[in-house]
Amino acid sequence: MNIVIASDHGGYTLKTQLAEYLSKKGENVIDVGTYSDVSCDYPDFAQKACALVLSKEADFAILLCGTGIGISIAANKIPKIRCAVCSNVETARLAKEHNNANAIALGGRIVKFNEAKEIVDTYMSASFAGGRHQVRLDKILSIEERQWKI
Ligand code: RB5
Repeated sequence: MNIVIASDHGGYTLKTQLAEYLSKKGENVIDVGTYSDVSCDYPDFAQKACALVLSKEADFAILLCGTGIGISIAANKIPKIRCAVCSNVETARLAKEHNNANAIALGGRIVKFNEAKEIVDTYMSASFAGGRHQVRLDKILSIEERQWKI
């Protein structure tokens, strides 16, 4: 699979570990940064990664920041991105089965590498269940398409 991976400084170490793990497994990993633990802003990296999902250059995105929360909030501002913060294998499985998430977010300061590997593997081996869940995704799309007055 083509997997784009991105982080801020808070997710940098775990990003590096996951990128190496997935590459060794034979996945095509596209690392769009950050490339050091120098402080940076997670919205920049959410955009870089999600652009590749929308262009179909990547099948899905793995996004990391300190908690996974900030970068997921930024990613979910992008139409057609469904980013799920995954903190264990159960949320990873349901992110695919129920939400058909095309991005998962992990906290570099929350999950250890061993658990992160299981989270990513679980997400990748799960399948979208469709049915009632597709109805809900269609409603999310209609929220995106509504003209919000702000
Ligand atoms: C950066 O210190 C930290 O705020 C960021 O990585 C992330 O956890 C935000 O949600």
